Amino acid sequence: MIRPVIQLLMLKRATRFTKKCLGTEEVNITSDLLVLQNHLKRLIDSFPDKGFRRDYWLSPYPEVILYTLLRTLRPRTVVETGVSGGISSSYMLQALKDNGCGMLYSIDLPSSRYRYRYKSGWMVPEHLRNRWSLIIGDSKKELKPLLINLREIDAFFHDSLHTYEHMLWEYKTVWPFIRWGGLLISDDIQSNRAFHHFSKIINRKTYSYRKGPFTYLGVIRKS
Ligand SMILES: C[S@@+](CC[C@H](N)C(=O)[O-])C[C@H]1O[C@@H](n2cnc3c(N)ncnc32)[C@H](O)[C@@H]1O
Repeated sequence: MIRPVIQLLMLKRATRFTKKCLGTEEVNITSDLLVLQNHLKRLIDSFPDKGFRRDYWLSPYPEVILYTLLRTLRPRTVVETGVSGGISSSYMLQALKDNGCGMLYSIDLPSSRYRYRYKSGWMVPEHLRNRWSLIIGDSKKELKPLLINLREIDAFFHDSLHTYEHMLWEYKTVWPFIRWGGLLISDDIQSNRAFHHFSKIINRKTYSYRKGPFTYLGVIRKS
């Protein structure tokens, strides 16, 4: 079980950060969020391969930031790259459910180590899947056609391959499709200088959210 006091602290931090990015006073949290967090924690704790866990999954605590950002933005269309077990997808889908609107489109090229044993997004609860479209493949191939098809998106979350070239390529590809006021969110911006360089190219302010001792999530608002 996630201790309520920890959850409260996480939510306070996430809400403060969301206010910084989006300028909104309050984020409406439903009790379903705690149910989801405990569901994810149970699955994570029971997973046998701790090395894979550390390398490939987000944690059930700080990622609540994805929930608060999407609760406040109230997006119609969200695109994500990098699903793995589906922790980020679950948080975003919970936000869409609680908003009562929106679709999440996720692209994942499963890791060769686990492809046959664990399906991408296996942690996502069944009742959140009606707002989800999962595309299995390389974002290099799948992202552009998806964006052309959607025409305009409200938010993008990068969490696929964290190389400088790939991150910069995804940011550059997705930026023209993000609507005015929408968000580009990236996990692990500390991996290299791609996020920083991209913000210079488009001349936008960045917000960074400290998730762990050495890990940060970055946000750029298109405004
Ligand atoms: C860091 S994990 C994603 C963690 C996930 N967001 C979560 O909440 O647990 C990265 C995922 O991106 C996938 N991936 C790596 N390269 C990719 C690519 N070129 N296109 C799409 N997915 C990719 C990996 O196999 C893995 O499933």
